[in-house]
Amino acid sequence: MEATVLVHDQQPSSATLSLQEELLEGLKATPKIVSPKFFYNWKGSELFSRICEQPEYYPTRTEEAILHSFADDIARHIGDEGILIELGSGASRKVRLLLEAMRPVSYLGIDISRDFLIESTRRLAADYPWLEVHAACADFSQRLEMPRHVQGKRAVAFFPGSSIGNFSPLAAERFLRDLGSLLPTGSGLLIGVDLIKDEAILNAAYNDAKGVTAAFNLNLLDRLRDEFDADIALRNFSHRAFYNAEESRIEMHLVSSVAQDVTVAGEKFHFDEGETLHTENSYKYSIEGFQALAIRGGFQPRALWTDPQALFSIHYLERA
Ligand code: AVI
Repeated sequence: MEATVLVHDQQPSSATLSLQEELLEGLKATPKIVSPKFFYNWKGSELFSRICEQPEYYPTRTEEAILHSFADDIARHIGDEGILIELGSGASRKVRLLLEAMRPVSYLGIDISRDFLIESTRRLAADYPWLEVHAACADFSQRLEMPRHVQGKRAVAFFPGSSIGNFSPLAAERFLRDLGSLLPTGSGLLIGVDLIKDEAILNAAYNDAKGVTAAFNLNLLDRLRDEFDADIALRNFSHRAFYNAEESRIEMHLVSSVAQDVTVAGEKFHFDEGETLHTENSYKYSIEGFQALAIRGGFQPRALWTDPQALFSIHYLERA
């Protein structure tokens, strides 16, 4: 029997730009920029799963090790919440450690990559027959709406992987505020946050030797060709990622190796030789810096777990 997943699709509100409008706006900006959400078509989600297995990309295995070591303590802090909501659930691997320790009644996975989300929540439903599994395809960089069955109910949200780092600090604060407005007082947020550390470790994590991160970055152009009628030669762009210490962030760019014109959705854009398309920021925080941001976003820090080398942190916050 096929495992059941209840799927909820969030309709973009008319106030938000369509994906194409957002894309064109970024290409017209100086410097050119595109939201990292464009990475996540099926292939991008698969490449991201492969990044997580690269020896240089420490965040995934470190966060998993923290969850593994402290699952019972984390579950004790969370208490007996019946609803677990995972934001940016992707392959839904890390949440398994939590599900076993927490044993919630219901799980809701939210992700932008619809087919990937449905497949991974199906696997979850098959592996945890006692769990009610829901999936909602939504872009949580826009304002979220919770499906009806969780509205107004106390819940714990799980936002792993330091995906909060892909927002600017100001947008992260806004995101926390919006999330808080959807969760009643006393609800919790368990969130993974990557920490500031030795630059060599950071630079290696985004420049893995096998070139998986480079392929992930370049796949964005492939997606533009497939879905936005773009005429772009991949061979004329290359991957660049570096730590910008002043901004405490990794920056990822696609660098144009020649002067060239590209077309996207019928509009022409010129790239000078060496000009870049800025594809992602990944902010790194100190523990205090992140806790201060959480408080500004309307959450109270309640507990914190890290690994012995202090590479990564997991915070339990409560909606104030
Ligand atoms: C999803 N996000 C937290 C990843 C990060 O580290 O910022 C995306 C990523 N980009 C390159 N490698 C991984």
